[in-house]
Amino acid sequence: MKKVVLAYSGGLDTSCIVRWLKEKGYEVICFVADLGQGLGKGEDFSAIEERALAAGASKVYIKDLQDEFIEDFIMPALKANAIYEGKYLLATALGRPLIARYLVQVAHKEKASAVAHGCTGKGNDQVRFEVTVGILDPGLEIIAPVREWEFKSREEEIEYARMYNIPIDVTKKKPYSIDRNIWGISIEAGVLENLGQEPPEDAYLITKGPTGTSSYPKYIEIYFEKGVPKKIDGKSYKLKNLISHLNEVGGLYGVGRADLVENRLVGIKSREIYEAPAATILHTAHKELESLVLDRELAHFKEIISLKYSELVYYGLWYSPLKKALDGFVDSTQGNVSGSVKLKLFKGSCTAVSRESAHSLYKKELSTYGKEDKFNQKLAEGFIKIWGMPYKR
Ligand code: ARG
Repeated sequence: MKKVVLAYSGGLDTSCIVRWLKEKGYEVICFVADLGQGLGKGEDFSAIEERALAAGASKVYIKDLQDEFIEDFIMPALKANAIYEGKYLLATALGRPLIARYLVQVAHKEKASAVAHGCTGKGNDQVRFEVTVGILDPGLEIIAPVREWEFKSREEEIEYARMYNIPIDVTKKKPYSIDRNIWGISIEAGVLENLGQEPPEDAYLITKGPTGTSSYPKYIEIYFEKGVPKKIDGKSYKLKNLISHLNEVGGLYGVGRADLVENRLVGIKSREIYEAPAATILHTAHKELESLVLDRELAHFKEIISLKYSELVYYGLWYSPLKKALDGFVDSTQGNVSGSVKLKLFKGSCTAVSRESAHSLYKKELSTYGKEDKFNQKLAEGFIKIWGMPYKR
C-alpha cells in the first residue's frame, strides 16, 4: 500500500483528510508539530493523537519542535528585522518550512512516497509547504486534498466526519480561521472579510484591548547578546520561556496587535489580523539596539536586506540560496548587537525609553548642544560645500 505523511493539526479539515486519503488507497501517517500553539496554556496532544487514529491514521508522530523553531527560524528572522509589509511578524510563515522539513524526514523514515497538507488553494501556506518539500526531496508526491476534494462547505465536511465516526468537536462555532504558534497568532475570515468593519474584540485571543488594560505603564528591560535576547529585567531566561513570558506581559498591556490588508503570494489581497506580543517587543528592542551600534551605512543597507528577507520568508523561500546568503550578511552585522533596551508598554504601544551598549556609537560630546561640545562646527562649512558641489549649476 502507498504511504503518505500528513501534516495533521487535529482540526476538522485534516481529520477528514485522513479518511479521504484512506479512501484513495493510502496508508496515512500523521505528523503533528508542536510549535507552541498552546501558547502557555498547553495543547491536548493526546486528544489530537486519539482523533487521528479514530479518523483512520495508522500511526501518529507528535514532535515538540519549539526549540528548533525558535533557534533556527525565529532568531534569524529577528536578527534580520523581518517584517512583511511593515506589520506582519511572520509567525505562520516561519513555521511552515520547519513542518515541511519534518514531513520529508518522516516520509524517508517510513518509506512513504507522498506527503499531504490541509491548506486551501488560495493561500500562502500551500506554497510554503510544497516549495520546501520540492527543494528537500523533489521525488516525493505532494497531495493537497482541500484543493481537489468534493466538499463545498464546512457542513459537508461535518457530515462526512459523522458518517465515518471521526470524533470532531462541532459544538464550537468557528467564526474565524486561526493559526497560532509561539511567535504569534494569525486570524482571518468571518466578519474580518468586511474591510469597513473594525475587528471585534472577541477576535483577539491573547491581547487585551486598550480599554481593558492598566492605566499605568509597565517598564521592561531586554538584554541582548549578538542580536539574541538573553535577559528580561536582569534575569536570564531560556528563549522559549523568554518568549512565553513576553507574550503574557505584552498581551496584558495590549501590545502586538496588527490589522492589515496584505498581498498574498497568489495575487489575492486579504484582510488579516495578528497578535504577536513577544515578537513585537523583541523586534522593537532589537531594532532600537541596532540604531545605537550599527553605523549609518550598515543600518540603512540592512533595511533593504530586511525587506527582501521578509519577502523570502513570506514567499516560502526559506531554503533558497538567496535566503542563505542573506543570513550570512545578517549574522555579520550582529557581532556588536549586545546591550539593553528599556521599553514602556502602555495601552497597546511599545516604545523604547532607554538604550545602552558597550558598543554604542553614540558620542554625547559630538551631539550635545551643551558646554561639553567637542564638535568643530567650522569644519561643517567645507563639508557642505563639497557635498553640495555636484548639484550646483
Ligand atoms: N496570512 C498569513 C500568512 O500567509 C497567515 C496565514 C494563515 N492564517 C490563518 N488565519 N489561518 O502567513
